[in-house]
Amino acid sequence: MTRFPHRHLLGIEGLSAGEISLVLDLADSYVEQSRSRERKSQLLDGRTVVNLFFENSTRTLTSFELAAKRLGADVINMAVQSSSVKKGETLIDTAMTLNAMHLDALVVRHAESGAVKLLSDKVNCAVLNAGDGHHEHPTQALLDALAIRRRLGRLEGLVVAICGDILHSRVARSNIHLLNAMGAHVRVVAPPTLLPSAIERLGVEVHHTMKSGLKDADIVMMLRLQSERMSGQYVPSIREYFYFFGLDYEKLAVAKPNALIMHPGPMNRGVEIDSEVADDFKRSMILDQVELGVAVRMAVLDLLTRPAREGRAA
Ligand code: NCD
Repeated sequence: MTRFPHRHLLGIEGLSAGEISLVLDLADSYVEQSRSRERKSQLLDGRTVVNLFFENSTRTLTSFELAAKRLGADVINMAVQSSSVKKGETLIDTAMTLNAMHLDALVVRHAESGAVKLLSDKVNCAVLNAGDGHHEHPTQALLDALAIRRRLGRLEGLVVAICGDILHSRVARSNIHLLNAMGAHVRVVAPPTLLPSAIERLGVEVHHTMKSGLKDADIVMMLRLQSERMSGQYVPSIREYFYFFGLDYEKLAVAKPNALIMHPGPMNRGVEIDSEVADDFKRSMILDQVELGVAVRMAVLDLLTRPAREGRAA
């Protein structure tokens, strides 16, 4: 496969294993470019990329900005404070306004699930979802997959335990779709209050203790307790949460001897992960994930702007 057959990247759901591999293979080459002295190319010279973020972000926004700049594009970052009342209206108005300025790619983060799809129906350029509500965060799952593939050489057959606040996590959802498509075995590990109902329908094994969930796992992926998305009490206390679900060496002992640790960031040290584990330079892939995020976003921007650059319809 050499062509990405989608106009936008709204989610991982619906992508085939071949399409995912196409992105990862291309991203591998951008890792090399990013590590070399000539990190900047002119591939997107004269093209405009807008990062439209209705929600706070540090690493995802910086990563998309850097990716577009490394490809030589002109980049504009727009941070918009979303008003809870006028959200729908603001979103469409903003999209139409930006569309009139002839963009090549629009990267969008929004607090509402489905908002990015809505916006993609209104514009002519490629739209990339940088996280919409609890729904999807496709580039995070792609960079996670790249990190695993570069370390272990494959995704197929691996046991991946995704632990913590699955309920509020778009990262978990995108990872579940991707890992299933690539033939990995996915487990979710969380207290029942932090799991969406009927999560097993997504093709995952459900565990309520770290002891059973981490048993013989190849990868342990920790998620942040997303307090800002919680209305009400989901866990009795932070101390108790860490005691039962926080990753430390004791809980990790049941996983495979060299099991790797991941976290999409931002991390709450001492809440979902112990500092010592997070900083374990042999087993923690947290900084690899950040590095590879830039390469994955370069690959996706390259693939999605190809039709326009080559003068054909997507
Ligand atoms: C995540 C997000 O915003 O969805 N972070 C990220 O993009 N790396 C997860 C989180 O906020 O906990």
